[in-house]
Amino acid sequence: MSKTSDTQKANPLREGLATRTVPQACSVVIFGATGDLTMRKLIPALYNLAADGELPPAVTVIGFARRPKTDDEFRKEQGESTRKFSRQTVRDEVWNSFAQALFYHQSEFHDAAGYKSLAERLDKIDQERGTGGNRLFYLAVAPDQFEPIIKNLKEAGLNKAREGSWARVIVEKPFGTDLASARELNAVVHTAFAEDQTYRIDHFLGKETAQNILVLRFANAIFEPLWNSHYIDHVQITAAETLGVEGRAGYYEGAGALRDMVQNHLLQLLCLVTMEAPTDLSADAIRDEKVKVVRSLRRIPCEKVAENVIRGQYAEGAINGQAAPGYRAEKNVNPNSQTETFVALRLFVDSWRWANVPFFVRVGKRLPKSGTEISVHFKKAPQVLFNKEMSALDQNVLVIRIQPDEGISLRMQAKMPGTSFRIEPVKMDFHYGTSFGKASPEAYERLLLDATSGDATLFARRDEVEEAWAFIDPIEEAWASKEEPPKLFEYPAGSWGPDAADEFLARDGRAWRRL
Ligand code: BG6
Repeated sequence: MSKTSDTQKANPLREGLATRTVPQACSVVIFGATGDLTMRKLIPALYNLAADGELPPAVTVIGFARRPKTDDEFRKEQGESTRKFSRQTVRDEVWNSFAQALFYHQSEFHDAAGYKSLAERLDKIDQERGTGGNRLFYLAVAPDQFEPIIKNLKEAGLNKAREGSWARVIVEKPFGTDLASARELNAVVHTAFAEDQTYRIDHFLGKETAQNILVLRFANAIFEPLWNSHYIDHVQITAAETLGVEGRAGYYEGAGALRDMVQNHLLQLLCLVTMEAPTDLSADAIRDEKVKVVRSLRRIPCEKVAENVIRGQYAEGAINGQAAPGYRAEKNVNPNSQTETFVALRLFVDSWRWANVPFFVRVGKRLPKSGTEISVHFKKAPQVLFNKEMSALDQNVLVIRIQPDEGISLRMQAKMPGTSFRIEPVKMDFHYGTSFGKASPEAYERLLLDATSGDATLFARRDEVEEAWAFIDPIEEAWASKEEPPKLFEYPAGSWGPDAADEFLARDGRAWRRL
């Protein structure tokens, strides 16, 4: 499929998602500046934005962390990691100019003096670099550091914007571990920052194809009339990873796949697929519709968890011919760990549009392939005419590939050329890469740009996060139960999860789509 080249006039009144966001000069203070997220994602994303000319040159980055380090040491270290992790090859002249806007601020997170000196430094940067008093605080730290950082920012008066400027905070996941802790965390954040200053990251929302879901649905006339229980049989959402826990056991052991991926990323995708059309493209109009979906999710009470949710944990196996250890043998994992690395759920959105349409959501680590996709399985054609005498024809399936090879395909039936009347499924396929001829930006690029522009559309709002936890909590509760908790199934690394996950769909007369 190729991009249409007719001259479509841009609507000058577009706002929210559809506009080109206009980033403003500001200071970006990254707490946890020497951590993994900063090195792998944040600085490379800022570098790529700068290299593409998307960032105002005055944007200044201040790394805030505990270890003593000079600005130059920080620049050198970040230069090395950016060269390793950047989407585009790093060009020395671009990096050297970008690095001039990188600074390091050494302090403990709970040391008030460090924030006082930060405030002074930011004032100086405003004068020297023209950052206009705008501040973006990025909490790229473990959740137990959120509270002291927020408290100290407030005490140093850094949460308040001066006239004509702004102060915002970006909070990384995990945003709580259950409803109670998410509420507490929201309360802590709101002691210093109002909701419209708060940007909760869900990096899946920054992925190009996730944003394209709304375009597919609401900028085309042919899908929306079919997008309901009359025509759709069921929907599958899969996020598969070949990676294991990758040295993150400290966090993952207490999280597991349900908290790590489903509560946030997968429910966000589900919202985009199922939400009603928003009244406009503003951040709140879109988020209002998303939160209605989470509220309409049929709750799974503890006693129904075993019927509706399958959990699994990878055992020893092999991926692409390479031996892979079992989860319990990974570093820092409890040898008797009950943490799930795979989960498959059957969900229902109790609304008129989606009445009784099952949504099968599956996520797992150490699966044979990495890929995230949504597949919409339409009802079968009636068994008259072509398939009257034979078994039913395959369903039409619309697949939205979130990653890799971002794109959309539609499976349909076609007559095989020849004298006999054989019908075979074929695919109509759109690939971002070939249609637009350029690579999609990384999710963090888009999200950082939006936060500097004041566009919160692709960030999770307080009520979305809390409603999502309210849905997740009873499942976790059932698993944590001392009396006959639902089984934790093993699956060999390199397989598509436990057999129980296949049987689970087979019981419903359906099967997982092969990625
Ligand atoms: C993170 C999870 O939020 O998302 C990780 O904590 C997971 O466990 C990652 O690997 C997947 O993101 P992506 O963008 O690599 O698909």
